[in-house]
Amino acid sequence: MTKVKRYEDLRSHRWLGPNDLRSFGHRSRLRQGGFDLPDWQGKPVIGIVNTWSDINFCHTHLRARAEEVKRGVLQAGGFPVELPAMSLSEPFVKPSTMLYRNLLAMETEELLRSHPIDGAVLLGGCDKTTPGLIMGAISMGVPAIYVPAGPQLRGNWHGQTLGSGSDAWKYWDEKRAGTITEQDWSEVENGIARSFGTCMVMGTAATMMAIAEACGLSLPGASSIPAADSNHPRMCATAGRRIVDMVWEDLTPDKILTPAAFDNAIRVHMAMGGSTNAIIHVVAMARRAGLKLDMKRFDEISREIPVLANVRPSGKYLMEDFFYAGGLRALMNELRDTLDLDCLTVTGKTIGDNIAGAAIYLPEVIHTLKDPVNTDGATAVLTGNLAPRGCVMKPSAAAKRLHKHRGPVIAFEDYNHMAREVERDDLDVTADHILVLKNGGPIGGPGMPEWGMLPIPKKLVKQGVRDMVRISDARMSGTSYGACILHVAPESFVGGPLAFVQTGDEIEVDVEARRIHLHVSDEELARRKASWVKPEPRYPRGYGALYSAHIGQADDGCDFDFLAPLGVVPEPEIH
Ligand code: FES
Repeated sequence: MTKVKRYEDLRSHRWLGPNDLRSFGHRSRLRQGGFDLPDWQGKPVIGIVNTWSDINFCHTHLRARAEEVKRGVLQAGGFPVELPAMSLSEPFVKPSTMLYRNLLAMETEELLRSHPIDGAVLLGGCDKTTPGLIMGAISMGVPAIYVPAGPQLRGNWHGQTLGSGSDAWKYWDEKRAGTITEQDWSEVENGIARSFGTCMVMGTAATMMAIAEACGLSLPGASSIPAADSNHPRMCATAGRRIVDMVWEDLTPDKILTPAAFDNAIRVHMAMGGSTNAIIHVVAMARRAGLKLDMKRFDEISREIPVLANVRPSGKYLMEDFFYAGGLRALMNELRDTLDLDCLTVTGKTIGDNIAGAAIYLPEVIHTLKDPVNTDGATAVLTGNLAPRGCVMKPSAAAKRLHKHRGPVIAFEDYNHMAREVERDDLDVTADHILVLKNGGPIGGPGMPEWGMLPIPKKLVKQGVRDMVRISDARMSGTSYGACILHVAPESFVGGPLAFVQTGDEIEVDVEARRIHLHVSDEELARRKASWVKPEPRYPRGYGALYSAHIGQADDGCDFDFLAPLGVVPEPEIH
């Protein structure tokens, strides 16, 4: 460790060090808590931002894990304090956790700023918690380590492996088609989520945890450790020890999050077959770091890097298998010739140092560049008159015949309209139709819900159809699959071209050419636009109104305009 900070330089010293009335107050209150001078004097104060909650079962273990982090902090000569933050439980928070990602980012930043905190350990993992915590920590700028919650154990039903989300959609369609019984369906419900930890397919949680590690913000290998594995609490204690040294080294996020670090993360995202949601979050994280990241960069890298992780929904296995196969270090070592190995990480060493010697133990789970799982690319960014600012698709999880497709549209004005229509046995629909859902975007949803994997109409499910082209301004769960075109920007609610699509129009999709085209003349589109009535605002007051007034579109990462790094927020005065 190269120590560049003295005790007198620490933020916490401003609260605790001076011999004045204010510091007397702070110290007397620490004594109220049973602490004494040896607990804090000469020591960095480490904030453990914990997204544990009774209603987030992906984070059930984080209450105990915070204690492991504290153990490490104490061992290394720091003073740990736990700071609870909102939990953003993906299954329970409505209308969408995405509505609140930026609120968690603001909470994280202001928790760290307003308290005497010198360094932070961020505990999260359930989808939006990872970007929320990291965005806040970047903006605050103190040294920080992200500790991923880790994936839950494999699901099980009748000896078959079940994957979060992916198998819920699959067996729901089988139930709709009448090929499984109510009893079967109930047993799947019992077996699909067997332990604490995040979704264990390559959903948004697994993707974002891997991206955080690939950026250099987590300890090497941390993101692959199953939540229930004893390696996990050991990793937490190591993070606690390491953050204390990071404070003395003044290893802040801006020294780690360079353009090359983000490129590394995007390469890993592609090789993992990661969630499309990651595009929004990584763009937002880069903006917080003061970097301009265009989502076209994802498209460029997806053409270079094939999918190597044979994990659902693009592959066959689950994150538990990925860990046994060698985990992220093994995958990154396979990618090493494509990565910038000089990028600095929270270890104080480079990515190259961190992945050196990592081996693939199960080649059917982590493939090699010579024998990839899929070369179609994990992300394609399409543009055209329907999506002037772009939209995204996951070719590796879509039926190949739909990569190039032209078909007639069935347009739904909102989610409820869609939900009613797809259950109709007399719906005039074929497998060649294109389903279009409006008002699922950042403001229209609101919060850009994960509606993008529109259900296949019941009539077609019974005929055995399992994929068709579906287009929306919503997002899609990373556990979902299919030819779903998402994040259409600008969204329909603010008058993007999607608002003017009508049933009977034709749309053409060409993934190879990265093109999406609505076959309606410019004159007709202008006519429809002129008669379009702007919808009423979703919220008259409160956080929703603040959100609606300041949220950016998907291609900008859906961050609030006032949270972009426009200037340095002053340190709080201590009076
Ligand atoms: Fe928490 Fe999927 S529900 S990660």
